Amino acid sequence: MSSNHFLSLADQSAEELRNYLDLARHIKLYPKAYKEACKGMTLAMIFQKPSLRTRVSFQTGIYQLGGQGIYLGPTDIQLHRGETIADTAQVLSRYVDGIMARVFSHSDVVELGRYGTVPVINGLSDLLHPCQVLADLQTVQEKKGTLKGLTLAYVGDGNNMAHSIMYGCALMGVNVAIGHPRGYAPDADVTTRTRELAAASGASVLITEDPQAAVADADVVYTDVWASMGQEGEHAERLARFKGFQVNSDLMSRAKPDAIFLHCLPAHRGEEVAAAVIDGPQSVVFDQAENRLHAQKAIMVRLMGRRR
Ligand code: CP
Ligand code: NVA
Repeated sequence: MSSNHFLSLADQSAEELRNYLDLARHIKLYPKAYKEACKGMTLAMIFQKPSLRTRVSFQTGIYQLGGQGIYLGPTDIQLHRGETIADTAQVLSRYVDGIMARVFSHSDVVELGRYGTVPVINGLSDLLHPCQVLADLQTVQEKKGTLKGLTLAYVGDGNNMAHSIMYGCALMGVNVAIGHPRGYAPDADVTTRTRELAAASGASVLITEDPQAAVADADVVYTDVWASMGQEGEHAERLARFKGFQVNSDLMSRAKPDAIFLHCLPAHRGEEVAAAVIDGPQSVVFDQAENRLHAQKAIMVRLMGRRR
């Protein structure tokens, strides 16, 4: 896949990911220096699912870079009436300078990238959420001063968040531990690729059904909803299957005393996380949410800003 897209962290080299993080940090420190970086440019924002953070941070981000975003919701364009992804990508590429898409099937965003002649950014698919993890790594770097050698524990569903966390940590040399209920393990291909990336960076990878083993001595504890968008019908069943995987004060106490807590949000207090944790002193979830803005501006500057 062309490196002129941002579809998966596994498409990036460790150096490219480091460059994104450095640029995101610089943009956060000196936002005015980038106010014309995407001057006159348009970002098309395709959403097949709801969003607070992704929508508002991309639209605000492109505006702060001198451009504009166009929100294209599920019924705003012709995809739901049978227009193909390939045609949509080719038409949009004649009008706009970049396409951000939030989709169900990961193959849809890959197809947009195949046919789009402008950069395509994955704003979440059922498989991956790379923009979120760029912001997450920026947040950990800010709070801990480094990435390499840290340990991040993710407790919960082996979903899109788990997958992108695995790639991002493995690339950056962060030891990653996934604690998941039986039947909710991360994707096998993602796990294999993660182990390859981790072998190159020196990171360790632990996939376990024991949440306490996952968080042992972790520097960062992360969780996500038990039922992702599109899985609402499984919510009741998942509540039962995920019992024991809530990040609460007891589980947090098994991590390092100075561990920070991350959650991509939206959160369900009393399900995957106890209010005492997400609203407590170890939580950095709103700094994390803020960093979506800076991290995604870095993506747009690198992919779109260099085209002119
Ligand atoms: N974390 C995240 O992507 O949030 P939204 O679904 O609100 O965009
Ligand atoms: N796993 C969640 C992430 C939301 C940002 C979902 O896909 O709904």
